[in-house]
Formats: sequence, C-alpha cells, structure tokens
Amino acid sequence: MPYIEVTNACKKYVQNGMETTVLDNVSLTIEKGEFICLLGPSGCGKSTLLNALAGFETVNSGSVKINENEVKEPSEKNITIFQNYGLLPWRNVLKNVELGLESKKIPKEERRRIAEEYIELVGLKGFEKRHPRQLSGGQQQRVAIARGLAVNPDIIFMDEPFGALDAITRMKLQDDILKISREEKKTIIFVTHDIEEAVFLADRIVIMMANPGRIKSIVKVPLGNYRNRTSRNFLYVRDKIFELFNLKTEEYIEYVI
Ligand SMILES: Nc1ncnc2c1ncn2[C@@H]1O[C@H](COP(=O)(O)OP(=O)(O)OP(=O)(O)O)[C@@H](O)[C@H]1O
Ligand SMILES: [Mg+2]
Repeated sequence: MPYIEVTNACKKYVQNGMETTVLDNVSLTIEKGEFICLLGPSGCGKSTLLNALAGFETVNSGSVKINENEVKEPSEKNITIFQNYGLLPWRNVLKNVELGLESKKIPKEERRRIAEEYIELVGLKGFEKRHPRQLSGGQQQRVAIARGLAVNPDIIFMDEPFGALDAITRMKLQDDILKISREEKKTIIFVTHDIEEAVFLADRIVIMMANPGRIKSIVKVPLGNYRNRTSRNFLYVRDKIFELFNLKTEEYIEYVI
C-alpha cells in the first residue's frame, strides 16, 4: 500500500451559478520519505490539492488517503508551512519555535532544548531573543521551518514557502531544505511554480495544468540527493521539464528523463 494515495479526486466550486472544476480526476501515490513538488501555472489547483492532502479541504468525489485512512481534517502528525510564515509577532524566535511543542505538552526544559537544536539547524543561532519584526523575510521563513521541524512531523506540506523571497535568499533556503529533507528523511510535499526550484528539490515532480486542474505528467528527477544548479545534468533535466511544462496537450503524458 502506498503511504499517500489520491484516487480520482475531484473538486468543484460553484460561483454565481457557474461551476468550475478545480481538480479533475487527480490520482497520485507518494511513498514515505519522498520529496514531491507540485508544479504548475497559477490557478491549476496546486494549493487545492495540497490543502486536500493536508486536510484543510475535502474533495467532492474520489479519495485522499494517508496510511490507508481517509484525510478528513488536519492531523497533528503533519505540519503545513505557508508563504506568509504565520509567526506570532509578540513572541520571540525561541518562543515561536516552541509553539508546537507546547501544544504537544512537552516539558519546558525539553522544549527549550529541541527549539534551540532546530534554531541552530536553520542557521539562526544568536537570534533566539529577536521578535519577527526584527527579522528579514528569509529569517522569518527559517523560524517557520524550525517551528515545523521541531515537532518531528511525519509529513511537511509547503505552499510556495519561498515565493516572497529574493532570489539569493531563496537559493539559500532551497539549499537548507534540501539538506534537511535528505538528512531527516521527511516526506515533503512542496508547491511551486518555479521549474528550477522543483528540479533542485524534488524526487518526483507532479506537473499540473489548468482548466480543469489536472495532472499533466509525473516525472522522476534523475539527479542524486545533492544537486548542483550549474551542472550539465541539472540543466539538462531543467530543460526537459521546461519543454514538458510548455507542451500543449489535453492528455496525460508518460515521460522518463
Ligand atoms: N473558495 C473558492 N471558491 C471558488 N473558486 C476557488 C476557491 N478556491 C480556489 N478556487 C479556484 O480554484 C482554482 C485553483 O486554485 P488554487 O488556489 O488551487 O490554484 P494554484 O494552482 O494554487 O494557483 P497559484 O499558483 O496562483 O497559487 C482557481 O481557478 C481558483 O480561482
Ligand atoms: Mg496556490
């Protein structure tokens, strides 16, 4: 049995009497420890699919299962990191990272130890006492990542987490998340509309298309665990994904790089 299984998922919205199909018969399986990128143009249903997996939305038909259980609501075992960081402005870095540990009723000393460990992991040692307003966007996103990782989640859902960052900060955070994902062997589902980001991070890329939102192709990225943005192999894979991304088609494409 696959760890995560989406079968013929459909999602429709009705607005002013008009029906839009946002997810049209989406099927996908994901194994434990995989890094999956959902890649596609704006409006193709990436966030909707992610939210259905994370339990924030339900589908109208078909099924979304994790560990053979239908996803009905967000699970405490998983965490979601959004684009807007979601930090509490009145709490300092340490207290923000401790947040999820508090709801897990972990004792104070232990909480502090774990929070400090993850603050160091994301490169923010020395920033513990700062408040979010005293941090750059990239640093705030690091706090959000540390907070998510600190609760030792089974699955990390990320919806364009680096979308608001400048190119350099973004690359640095991509390096960090790649390293963390490989070291901690987490299952990560990551939404992006950036082809290069998907090729840099993913084990497999789920390419989606719009109107109605559906999967165009699922492609395995034939690169090692650690990637080099300027290597010939990387550029080759990026170009192939780019071609596939731009290909006009109504049908699912089987594609092996
Ligand atoms: N609550 C809603 N009511 C009506 N339509 C909605 C609702 N939420 C999303 N949609 C529509 O569903 C489609 C898919 O939205 P979704 O947010 O999943 O896209 P996306 O791929 O994440 O896009 P982006 O890259 O811009 O974030 C869009 O056309 C959007 O307008
Ligand atoms: Mg979105």
